[in-house]
Amino acid sequence: MDTLMIGEKERSFRERLKESIVESIRIEHPVVLKGQYERAYELLRDSLEVGITPCLVGPPGVGKSLLARKVAEDTGRPFYEVFFDENVTPSRLIGSFDPALVVRIGRTIESFEPGPLIRAMVEGGLFVAQELNRATEFCQNSLIAPLEERHYHLYPIGMIKAHENFAFVATQNPIETAGTYRLSQVLMDRIGCWIRLGYPSKETELEIIRANVPEFGLSDKALNKIYEIIHDTRETPALEIPASPRAGIFLARLVNTYLDKFEDADEAIRFFAPAVLRKEMRIRERGRSIDDIIKEILDRRLGEVNGA
Ligand SMILES: Nc1ncnc2c1ncn2[C@@H]1O[C@H](COP(=O)(O)OP(=O)(O)OP(=O)(O)O)[C@@H](O)[C@H]1O
Ligand SMILES: [Mg+2]
Repeated sequence: MDTLMIGEKERSFRERLKESIVESIRIEHPVVLKGQYERAYELLRDSLEVGITPCLVGPPGVGKSLLARKVAEDTGRPFYEVFFDENVTPSRLIGSFDPALVVRIGRTIESFEPGPLIRAMVEGGLFVAQELNRATEFCQNSLIAPLEERHYHLYPIGMIKAHENFAFVATQNPIETAGTYRLSQVLMDRIGCWIRLGYPSKETELEIIRANVPEFGLSDKALNKIYEIIHDTRETPALEIPASPRAGIFLARLVNTYLDKFEDADEAIRFFAPAVLRKEMRIRERGRSIDDIIKEILDRRLGEVNGA
């Protein structure tokens, strides 16, 4: 009986897994291409068009990944990405031979399981190297030939030549917040276009929040308060990493959906803001806590409340 139950559960999971397979993930909300985003998008597109590798540089949550995805969609390129850290090895990018198959048929195309970089090179895709500055030197070196010569020597199969649409985009957080390896000079020299993103203007950020909140129904006043709270964190020198547009989106989504449970929007914002903001922000000064800073900002924007 038990095994039958498990068998059925497992079978239905596998069915669902099959149904969940899609060709590619599409962006499901409008992309705001105004102000800094218009400029960045054009630079990204133009540099790819002429075969120059761009790097998007900006703090967390400002839209680097979204822009890369958008340009891949608009230029009809399959999208591949790898998030770098010290555990990512070159074989994670390139691929590897299946040991069981190697025993039977040797190192051939059939026994090779390609990684995202080789897939992008062969299919003419966009390969996005997220947080490239966190890649080990070993990994950075394995990217030089694909970037510079548009080929990769895959031993013992041979030289893989990249499809003409193959393109490479790097992203990174600004050095001052990275606290990680830096890009090697050789790789840096091969990145020809550095595109900086900061925090958007108020008008643009409000539009981004609206675009990312399904069934947006907040009043202008409530939306403005959310923006002001997010913006205040960026004016707080004690914070090394303030709140991003992503945090604004999360907060607006929660307040928008659960507004009915509260007296008013202010109360909802006060309830959700600490949980959303605490996670993302990083403090620079010792002796002050993130919670104190959040409370200060909320008291300033929503008025003080007494008691706990
Ligand atoms: N111009 C924009 N139009 C619409 N939505 C945007 C825009 N910019 C950012 N967003 C939204 O903001 C959120 C954060 O964007 P994204 O994930 O691209 O940031 P990121 O810079 O890649 O962050 P991280 O450094 O953490 O990887 C996403 O939900 C994204 O859809
Ligand atoms: Mg990203």
